[in-house]
Amino acid sequence: MKSYLSTAIFGMGLILASCSAPHSEGPAYLDVNKPLEERVEDALARMTIQEKVAMTHAQSKFSSPGVPRLGIPEVWCTDGPHGIRPEVFWDEWDQAGWTSDSCTAFPALTGLAATWNEELAHLYGKSIGEEARYRKKTVLLGPGVNICRTPLNGRNFEYMGEDPYLAGRMVVPYVQGVQENGVAACVKHFALNNAESNRHTSNIHVDDRTLYEIYLPAFKAAVQEGNAWSIMGSYNLYKGIWCSQNPYLLNDILKKEWGFDGVVISDWGAVHDTDQAVRNGLDLEFGSWTNGLTMGKTNAYDSYFFATPYLEGLASGKYGTEELDDKCRRILRLIFRTEMSADRPFGRFTSPEHYEAARKIGTESIVLLKNDGILPVDASRMQKILVVGENAIRKMSVGGGSSSLKVEHEISPLEGIKARFADAQIIFERGYVSDAENVYNGVSAGDNLEESRSAEKLVEDAVAAASKADLVIYIGGLNKANHQDCEDSDRLTYHLSYGQDGLIESLAEVNRNLVVVNISGTPVAMPWVDEVPAIVQSWYLGSEAGTCLAAVLSGDVNPSGKLPFTYPVEYSDGPIKEEAQYPGLLEGNMGGVEAYDVPLHEMYYSEGVFIGYRWYETRNVKPLFAFGHGLSYTRFVVDGVKVDRTRISADDEVIVSATVRNVGDVAGAEVVQLYVQDNEASVARPSKELKGFKKVFLQPGEQKTVEIRLSADDLSFFDESAHAWKAEPGVFTLHVGTAVDKIWDQVEITLK
Ligand code: BGC
Repeated sequence: MKSYLSTAIFGMGLILASCSAPHSEGPAYLDVNKPLEERVEDALARMTIQEKVAMTHAQSKFSSPGVPRLGIPEVWCTDGPHGIRPEVFWDEWDQAGWTSDSCTAFPALTGLAATWNEELAHLYGKSIGEEARYRKKTVLLGPGVNICRTPLNGRNFEYMGEDPYLAGRMVVPYVQGVQENGVAACVKHFALNNAESNRHTSNIHVDDRTLYEIYLPAFKAAVQEGNAWSIMGSYNLYKGIWCSQNPYLLNDILKKEWGFDGVVISDWGAVHDTDQAVRNGLDLEFGSWTNGLTMGKTNAYDSYFFATPYLEGLASGKYGTEELDDKCRRILRLIFRTEMSADRPFGRFTSPEHYEAARKIGTESIVLLKNDGILPVDASRMQKILVVGENAIRKMSVGGGSSSLKVEHEISPLEGIKARFADAQIIFERGYVSDAENVYNGVSAGDNLEESRSAEKLVEDAVAAASKADLVIYIGGLNKANHQDCEDSDRLTYHLSYGQDGLIESLAEVNRNLVVVNISGTPVAMPWVDEVPAIVQSWYLGSEAGTCLAAVLSGDVNPSGKLPFTYPVEYSDGPIKEEAQYPGLLEGNMGGVEAYDVPLHEMYYSEGVFIGYRWYETRNVKPLFAFGHGLSYTRFVVDGVKVDRTRISADDEVIVSATVRNVGDVAGAEVVQLYVQDNEASVARPSKELKGFKKVFLQPGEQKTVEIRLSADDLSFFDESAHAWKAEPGVFTLHVGTAVDKIWDQVEITLK
C-alpha cells in the first residue's frame, strides 16, 4: 500500500484503479445520454488515487483540476454574487488586467430581496448565469443567504435580509436561473456567518430551534427546492468546529437530513485540519494559505490539507477511500451537470438584455421610506436642483470585498439625474469626503474622488447652494469601504459616518424641499427623519444605478420596493444587548486542532428566534421603519380578507385571499404579506412570522384578488426535544398586511 501510494505521490507513474470494461461506443462517462450516476461511477472507476486527491483541492486561486488524462475539465469558480469577478492572476487576488472581463453589475442582493418579486430573482439568476457561462465559469460563488442578525454586519448587502421565508423564496429562483445555464450556484456561507469582524475565530452558540427556524431555512430551500449543485462552508465555527469542516452542519444536516448530492466547497482559507475536513463532509478545498497556516509561499498547492497530507493519510491507512470516493462522486456530478452536460447554453456577456434586467431589478428594489408629497419630482416647478453627497458620484461596483467588480459601465446617480432632468439646472456639491480610495484588488472605479476643500468648507458650500435651490437631493449613506458595508470588517457604528447626520440637518434648515437618498445594504440611523420630507432607500444598484434612481425620483417608475429588514431608531433598541451576543467574548483556546490553536470569540445567539421584526413586533418596540415597509406614488386598499376554511387538520391547506385595489392615480405595485401568529404555544413564539406574500401590479382603479396557500407546516415551530417541526393544535391568527406594522385585517383559523 505504502509503495503504491508513494509512487502516486511522487508522480513517477499513474496507477490505474480497476477500470470498467471497455465499451465499443466509448466510455460511459463521456456519453451525455447516459444517466448521470452511471457516468459518475464509470469515471470514478477509471481514476487513480492521485487523480482523486488532486480533484479535491485547488490548483490556482479559483480553479481545481479535473482529470486531464480522461478529458474531464477543470472546475472554474468565480465571485459572485452581483456580477462576474474580473480574472485574477493564477495564484493572486489581484486582477490580471484582462481587457475582456468587464461585466454587467447587477443590484446587490439586499436590493433583489427588496423587490419581493420571485420572477425578478429568476431573471437575476438567469442573467448572471449567462455572464458566468460566457466567461467559461463552472461555479458562481453566490448567492448569499446569511440572515441579517445585526445591522452592523459588514456583508448584509450581499444577503437577502432578516427573514428566512423571504430569503428562501428569493434564493430558489436565483439558483434555478443560474443553473439553467449549466453553471452551478454555490450558496454561501453555510452557516451562521452573521458577522464579519473575527469571522475566522467566532464560535457560534445557538440553540437548535433558532438554528432551524432562522438560520437554516433559506439554505434548505436553496438545496431542496432550488437543487443547488454546490454550497460554501463558512469561516466561523459552530460547536467549536470550523464550519467548512463541521460534521453537524455538513454531514448530519446538509447531506443526511436534506439529501444534498452536490459539492461542499470551503470558503477561501476556511480549512484548518485534514482530519476533520476529510471526515466531516468537506468536498473541495480552496484558498488555503499554502501550508495552511500562514500567508506566504505561492504555488504550493501540494501543501493543501487535501493534497499531500491527504495522500499520506491514505497511504498510512489513516483514511479509507470511502470518503474520498464520496467527494469525487460529488465533484464529478457537478462537472457532468455543468462542463460536460449535453444541453449547456453558450451564455452571453454585457448584453442589452442584461442591462435591462439590472435596470428592472434596480428600479423595483428602491424603497420609498417617507414622502410628504415632494416626490415624484415635478420638473416643471423644480428648475434648479442641487445634488449633494459623495454617493452621487461614487461608483459602487468596486469595493466591499470579494463581490467587487470591474464593470463595462456604471451610471452614477448624478449622471442618471442629469440625463433624466436634462431641462433643469443640476448643480452638484460634495458635502463630505469619505476616507477611502475606490480601488479593490487592482481595479479602480475610475471615478475622481479628489477633493481639496476642508470638511467645514464642504458643508458651508453645500448649505449655501441649498439655500438657493428649488430642490435638494442628498445622496449619501455607506460606500463599501472598510467598516462601511464591506467584507471582513463590520460597521463600527449604526450611524452614518463622515459627518453626514450634521450635514443633512444643516441642509434641512435652509431648504424644506429636501429628499434624502440613503445608499446602503443594511439599516442605518436617521436621527433627522422628522426634518426631512422625503426619504428613499436605494441599494448598490450596479451598472444602471443612476438610471434606476432617476426613474423613481421622476416618477417614471412608481416605487414598489419593500424593506427586507427592520430599521431600528437606535441600535440599542434591537435584541443585541450584550457583548456575549455580539461581537462575542474572547475566551479560551481552540481545542482539538493543534495546528491552529487560536483564541476564539465565543458568540451567543441568546436572543434566540427574536431577531429583526420578530423582536420589534413581539416586544412592542417601535422601529424607525418596519420590515416590509415601502410607500408608493399611488394608494392601495386591501380588503376582503378571508379563508376558505377555518378549521384545518395537519394535512390540509388553507387558502387565504384578499383583494387589493389601486385607488390612486398612477399604476403601481403592492405586496400583500401574510404573517402567522400562534395564539397559544408551549414555547415563546414571535407575534408575527412571514409565511406568504404576493406582489400585484395594478392600473389606477384596477383591483385583483390574491391567494396565498398555507399548510400546517407554516404554523409550526422547531421542537428541539423531538428534533422535528411541530404545529400545536389551537387557534392561529393570520395577519394580512402591506408591512409587518401595517396590517389591514386578520382572520383566525383553528388547527385540530
Ligand atoms: C469570501 C467568499 C468568496 C471567496 C472567494 C472569501 O473571502 O468569504 O464569499 O466567494 O472569498 O473570493
